[in-house]
Amino acid sequence: MKSIKEVKSLSGKRILLRLDLNVPIVNGKIADTTRIDKILPTLKFLIKENSKIIILSHIGRPKGKIVKNLSLKPICEDLENKLNQNVKLITKNISEISDEDFSKNDTEQIIMLENIRFYSEEEKNDPIFAKHLASLADIYVNDAFSCSHRAHASIHEITNLLPSYSGLQLDLEINALKKITSEIKKPITCIIGGSKISTKINVIKNLIPKFDNIIILGAMANNVIKYMGNNIGKSLQENNSDLLIEEIFSLSKKKEL
Ligand code: 3PG
Repeated sequence: MKSIKEVKSLSGKRILLRLDLNVPIVNGKIADTTRIDKILPTLKFLIKENSKIIILSHIGRPKGKIVKNLSLKPICEDLENKLNQNVKLITKNISEISDEDFSKNDTEQIIMLENIRFYSEEEKNDPIFAKHLASLADIYVNDAFSCSHRAHASIHEITNLLPSYSGLQLDLEINALKKITSEIKKPITCIIGGSKISTKINVIKNLIPKFDNIIILGAMANNVIKYMGNNIGKSLQENNSDLLIEEIFSLSKKKEL
């Protein structure tokens, strides 16, 4: 994948920028801004290059319905404060947005479209929906490493329709991954966290043969602690993960033999 840094001239180009701004919101307030802070370098880079930026992101799992408390509004406001620049949230139905809407907003360098998962077409990787998104921009940039495993319209199908590049944060993630793949140095221990064991099982299975030790933490650890017969009280956990944990233990034991 080519990096956005490699594009010769970005000046005046419309960039469709897919971000993962899926941050926790508690009582309408952002509880952890890490994901927003991480993508600021990409936005600052594109601002400096004089590009016009159209941000796409999801938040939560609204399953194709408009869910008021899953609006990107608080994130848009946080970005405005951090960039000290207007970020216009367009709440109009994406399929009704046209080039004209952007010319009307010509003074705005950064536009954010409302939660992309309000549209069922997104998770269906719908080619017509992706085509419409593509018609709004010149270039597509993926800076959403943490959802790049999803075959969704704004992540997958769109790359068939626009010249596509990685963002600065995605580049960093890929370089970090090289340290555990092509540039691995042993002995090595992996620390892996997160809340969803089911979406990481294949990664963990893949890591077992490569690492001397694997340390599982975060909410995923609760599942393992529970599986070992301990009480985790009300701590966050994923249901029905015992089979997945059994698989992890069985593969680790085979590696020891
Ligand atoms: C995440 O929080 O893991 C990413 O935003 C992806 O979200 P998803 O698991 O709902 O696709």
